[in-house]
Amino acid sequence: MFVLDLKLPEDFLWGTATSAFQIEMGMGEVDVNSDWYVWVHDEDNIRNGIVSGDLPENGPGFWELYPSDLRLAKEELRNNAFRMSIDWSRIFPEPTWDVPVRVHYDSDGNIREVDVTEESIRLLDERAYKPSVRRYREILSECRNLGLTVLLTLYHWPLPLWIHDPIACRDDISHSNRRGWLDQRTIIEFAKYSAFIAKTFGDLVDIYATMNEPMVVSGAGYFSEKSGFPPGINDLNLFVKVTKNLALAHGIAYEQIKRWDENSCSKWGPAYVGIVHNPQYFEAYNADSREDVIAAEFLAYLQNEWFLNMIVRGDFDMNLDMRVDPSEQRPSLAGRCDFIGVNYYMRIRVKGAESRIPGIPGYETIPCRENCTDMGWEIYPEGIRYELNWAYRLYRRPVMVTENGIADAKDEKRSEFLRAHISEVEKAINDGVPVEGYFYWSLIDNFEWAKGFKMRFGLFRVDYETKRRIPTKAVKVYRQIIEGLKSFSL
Ligand code: BGC
Repeated sequence: MFVLDLKLPEDFLWGTATSAFQIEMGMGEVDVNSDWYVWVHDEDNIRNGIVSGDLPENGPGFWELYPSDLRLAKEELRNNAFRMSIDWSRIFPEPTWDVPVRVHYDSDGNIREVDVTEESIRLLDERAYKPSVRRYREILSECRNLGLTVLLTLYHWPLPLWIHDPIACRDDISHSNRRGWLDQRTIIEFAKYSAFIAKTFGDLVDIYATMNEPMVVSGAGYFSEKSGFPPGINDLNLFVKVTKNLALAHGIAYEQIKRWDENSCSKWGPAYVGIVHNPQYFEAYNADSREDVIAAEFLAYLQNEWFLNMIVRGDFDMNLDMRVDPSEQRPSLAGRCDFIGVNYYMRIRVKGAESRIPGIPGYETIPCRENCTDMGWEIYPEGIRYELNWAYRLYRRPVMVTENGIADAKDEKRSEFLRAHISEVEKAINDGVPVEGYFYWSLIDNFEWAKGFKMRFGLFRVDYETKRRIPTKAVKVYRQIIEGLKSFSL
C-alpha cells in the first residue's frame, strides 16, 4: 500500500503524450512521404542494425482508432489533457517552396523573421492535403468533445521527404540537395507550415510546442553514427549548424503561431507556445574525480542549457566554450518561449575520457547496471524534481512535464515508476516551481523509432495483430492519483 497525499493545483493538466508517426499508422492511410518512413525501410539500415526492421505501417492504428483511444484517456485514466503531434508530411506531402513569403535576415545572414501573408495562407491551403486536414480536425474536435485540452507539437521528428532525403544525406551529405535542418530554407518552410497549422486548427488548440527535443534531432542525427536516427552522421560542425537552425526555426514558428492563432478555446488561449526539451540528469561517476566532474558539467551544458540559452536569452554560443561573447548575443531573438516542457526519463552517469575534439572535454557514459528499464535507462525519480527546479530557476518560465515514462514489457515496474515520479513532481511544486501539468509517455505502446515495437511504453499494451488495447497495472494507479485519493494499493 502506497500513500500519496497529493496537493496539486486544481487546473493541473493530467495527460499522456504521443506523437503522430509513432501511433498513427497501422490502420487507414499510410504516410510514405517522410524521411523517417524512408529511413526505417532502408535495407542498408536494416541490414546494418541501425534500425530494427519493424515498420510503422504495422503500428497501433490511431489514425482510425482515435475515438476509442481518446476515450481510454478520458474514461479510464480520467485525464483532462492530451499531447499529440501533427506530421508535416501528412499536411504537405508536396513542396511549398514556391509559396511566396518575405524573409528578413540579420547582419550575419541568419533568418530573423518570415512574413507569411493572408495570400500565402490561401496558397498553402490550396496545397494542403485535405483528407489529412480533415482527419486532424476530427481528432482535435474529439479531444474537445471529451474535455481533453490539447498540447499540440508541430514537429515531432519526421520531415517531409521533399525537405530531407535521409539516405542521400547519409551517403554523401555534401551532394544532397534535400538537406533537412542543415538548410536554412527549411526554416522558411517551417514558418509557412506553422502559420498554416495555427490558422487552420487555432479554434481547437491553445497550447503549442513548436518542436520535440531538438537536441535529439541534432545530437542523434548529426553527432552520432550509430544512434539509429537520420541521417546518422557524426560531425561536430554539422551538429552545431543544425542545432542553431532548429533554434532559429523555433523562434520563427513561435512568432507565426502567435500571429495566426487568434482563437481562444480555453484559459490558455489563444496561443501559449513553448518548447519540449529533454534536459538530462547527468552525474559524475566519481564525484572526487575532476575529469568526471568536468565531463558531467560539460554534457549538462551542451544537452540542457545550450539550446534554451539560444531561444530564451538570445545567447548563441557557437564555439561551445561555455561563454557568450558580445558577438554571440542576439537580443532580438530572445524571449520567444512561454513555457518549458521537460521530458524526463533517467539519470546518466558520466566519466571523463580522452578528448577527441579540441576544446571539448572527452566523456563516456556508463551503461545502467541496476534499476534499469527495457531501454537500459536508469530509473531515478529524484532527477525530475531537480530538472523542474533547474529549468524554472534558470529561465523563469512555467514548466510542464511533457514526457515521463518507462519501457517495461513485463509490466513490473511501471506503477511504482509513475507513483515515484509524480511524487517528486509534487515536491518540485512545493519547492515553488510553477509546474502546469504532467504527461505520461505514452497512452499506448507505439513505434519506438529505431528500436521499433519491442519497447513498450504504453499505459495500455497494444496487441499489434488485433490492435487490441490492454490496460497495464499502472492504469488504475494513474487514475487513482488523478482522482486525488490519498491512498491506494498496487
Ligand atoms: C521522445 C519520444 C520517445 C520517447 C522514448 C522521447 O525522447 O520524444 O518520441 O518515444 O522519448 O524514447
